[in-house]
Amino acid sequence: MDLKTFAQALPKAELHLHLEGSFEPELMFAIAKRNKVEIPYASAEDVRAAYRFSNLQDFLDIYYAGASVLLAEQDFYDLTYAYLKRIAADNVRHVEVFFDPQTHTERGVAFSTVMIGITKALSDGQKDFGISSKLILSFLRHLSEEDAFKTFEQAEPYLDWFVGVGLDSSEKGHPPSKFARVFAAAREAGLKLVAHAGEEGPPAYVWEALDILKVDRIDHGNRSLEDPKLVERLVKDGMTLTVCPLSNLKLCVVNDLKQHPLKKMLDLGLKPTINSDDPAFFGGYVGENFAAVTEALNLSKAELITLAKNSFSGSFLSEAEKQSWL
Ligand code: HPA
Ligand code: ZN
Repeated sequence: MDLKTFAQALPKAELHLHLEGSFEPELMFAIAKRNKVEIPYASAEDVRAAYRFSNLQDFLDIYYAGASVLLAEQDFYDLTYAYLKRIAADNVRHVEVFFDPQTHTERGVAFSTVMIGITKALSDGQKDFGISSKLILSFLRHLSEEDAFKTFEQAEPYLDWFVGVGLDSSEKGHPPSKFARVFAAAREAGLKLVAHAGEEGPPAYVWEALDILKVDRIDHGNRSLEDPKLVERLVKDGMTLTVCPLSNLKLCVVNDLKQHPLKKMLDLGLKPTINSDDPAFFGGYVGENFAAVTEALNLSKAELITLAKNSFSGSFLSEAEKQSWL
């Protein structure tokens, strides 16, 4: 068996996936038609042709525009179910997925509509594909902390439905410290905490995520490597980094996968995992991310096994559940 096939077949967890980023153009068209919403493209190919980004913001503008066709519970169900169906082929056995409620509630969609549609699909995904799942509510960092608090209040009746909160959207100019109080409230409520940091933002943002937000995982974390003291701290804490290679390539965080820091992270004793981020936009699901870095970085079988193990040990499964995969 070649190494790419081996990587594809490894049981794995995905810990960094934005549900809205798994919205394939064909489904986008079908839902737009069903909801009688206009989209400014003639075909799915047309949509794909527009997916050329030079930075995070370029992508986010198109990502939010695509998500605007999602209106009904069935839409959120279809989006989520399609993702689970696709990743079953990559032998993904557990997922911890982000959703961005503010992207939808801002447009007048009820919080409950989003929540019910997604969780029904997650439950069917467990039954139909044997994929276990947890949900992470992500706050949009380009909006205010007050807005995040409003979203957290709307989420309060559903606290048992999600495992934690996260922080995504435009990183530069929106440091983790902007959300110190809402993350403290989430921690008080017993939730897990994660934050995107060090994707485009400086190492200082990773320090803030650790020391001010007190996160359990760092999403991306690439730029941590610029600060040896930070690397030392992340190693000491055994902090999981949810790394997204094809996303990094598409958003020009790296210019070439051969220069991707994943292998260096492993060599430094960090705990990276491989994830797809927004697979419908970045040219591949988790299996394709594994295949791409296996080739570009010449990863060994032992490194691939470490990466798959990291995905379970860094998850929010119980210790007993983790052990069953390690
Ligand atoms: N970074 C920040 N915010 C996001 C991303 C990302 O890669 N994808 C969806 N929201
Ligand atoms: Zn992300």
